[in-house]
Amino acid sequence: MIRIDREAPAEAGAREALLDLALGRRRQKKTSERLRDGRLPAEGLSFSARTKARPLIGTLRLWHISAGADRPALLLGPLAVEPSYRCRGIGSALMRRALSSAAELGHRAVLLVGDEPYYKRFGFSRALTEHLRLPGPFERHRLLALELVPGALRDARGMVAATGEMAPLAPKKSTGIAAKSLTFRVRHAS
Ligand SMILES: CC(C)(COP(=O)(O)OP(=O)(O)OC[C@H]1O[C@@H](n2cnc3c(N)ncnc32)[C@H](O)[C@@H]1OP(=O)(O)O)[C@@H](O)C(=O)NCCC(=O)NCCS
Repeated sequence: MIRIDREAPAEAGAREALLDLALGRRRQKKTSERLRDGRLPAEGLSFSARTKARPLIGTLRLWHISAGADRPALLLGPLAVEPSYRCRGIGSALMRRALSSAAELGHRAVLLVGDEPYYKRFGFSRALTEHLRLPGPFERHRLLALELVPGALRDARGMVAATGEMAPLAPKKSTGIAAKSLTFRVRHAS
């Protein structure tokens, strides 16, 4: 049986490995990543798909953005399912859970960059993003949106910007330099 749950903090490493597998390391170069860099995902809107046998077979997160100057919205993605589990409805289950949770939490609209032939089944369309831009190169026909509240993106125009809370900086890894120089000094002193 497949379960969709909130992502657990300990799953971060497995999630990144799954994203590398599904989307390749070049995923980091995408303009949509610039809207996620250094930010925390939206509270309560990170999801994992798992089975009893496999701890993580699918991932989806949402992020705070502004769609133009005055339209609070969410950016959806990345969505990925482990290759051997595809075409069993897991991507759709993650999408439905994420969109219903976002609506319950009062969010008004969701944007994403992706294939319309896949995302139109969830109601996404390019009609709502005609006058929106991303902060970098993007394929206009792949910039899609869904209104959770009717009219939320009516006449939305301008730049899409990240508005999520900044993630705390990761502690710098020790280089060992201090320890080495200490050893050096001690040896010379003796
Ligand atoms: C896209 C993805 C998440 C779908 O996951 P999934 O669990 O296989 O999705 P579902 O089982 O809910 O849906 C499968 C259906 O979507 C279709 N589909 C999958 N990717 C598609 C795409 N890019 N365009 C159109 N249809 C697509 C499948 O052909 C299948 O069609 P069917 O229902 O007629 O058989 C998965 O293929 C994946 O991880 N792909 C690599 C990462 C990726 O491209 N992510 C999206 C970034 S835009």
